[in-house]
Amino acid sequence: MATTSTAQRGANAADAAGFNWRWGIILILSTVIGLGSLRYLAGQDMAPPPLLPNFLNHHTGFMIHISLGTAALLSGPWQFSDRLRSGSPRTHRMLGWIYVFSCTVGGVAGLLIASGSNGGPIAATGFSLLALLWIGLTLLALRAAITKRFAAHRRLMILSFALTFAGVTLRLYLPLALIDLKSFSQVYAWIAWACWVPNLAVGLWIARKG
Ligand code: HEM
Repeated sequence: MATTSTAQRGANAADAAGFNWRWGIILILSTVIGLGSLRYLAGQDMAPPPLLPNFLNHHTGFMIHISLGTAALLSGPWQFSDRLRSGSPRTHRMLGWIYVFSCTVGGVAGLLIASGSNGGPIAATGFSLLALLWIGLTLLALRAAITKRFAAHRRLMILSFALTFAGVTLRLYLPLALIDLKSFSQVYAWIAWACWVPNLAVGLWIARKG
């Protein structure tokens, strides 16, 4: 019996360490890539040439989208910290409102700029669907919290953040499209889907595990 509980404790500790290790990577990537994206606020010279036309045509939309996308990436990971949630519920609630505002308004801005994507209609459809799911899942998660359905709130926020993390995965895949600018649009059309569909699949898997 003592052996079982020792083994169980070991497994729990490994689970916790494994989760914290993954959470640490997600936190660092979200923070670094989110803050790095703010370079666009310095002006058009910061946009890679293939993205420049959309950036110039939807300048205000881009500014709102990038600022609020960064706010969602900076606030989101902390919401999954048990220590923060139980130690300072006020902070969890305040960051939660910032997160929800950032995802919904940032998502509307994403929807507006999607039509001008250099990746053409395939990319525009991928980004638009991402934006609609991002807004929808975030609002459903908010409603679950307000109506005190906390298990559903947690599951839906995992899905919401899996989509927020598209802001990271897109930037990790973007160099693939920049290798050869002649095929930028074709590769970017794939990236507009690849940046979020696998994230959502992993989010669903984590949310189902509990
Ligand atoms: C999850 C929902 C998101 C949607 C629907 C979305 C949508 C879009 C769209 C349509 C573009 C324009 C691409 C083009 O011109 O071809 C774009 C670009 C951009 N987005 Fe998002 N985005 C999302 C999340 C984020 C997040 C969380 C960030 C965080 C910083 C972010 C930062 C940027 C930046 C910096 C660009 C400029 C282009 C680049 O560097 O790749 N986005 N996004």
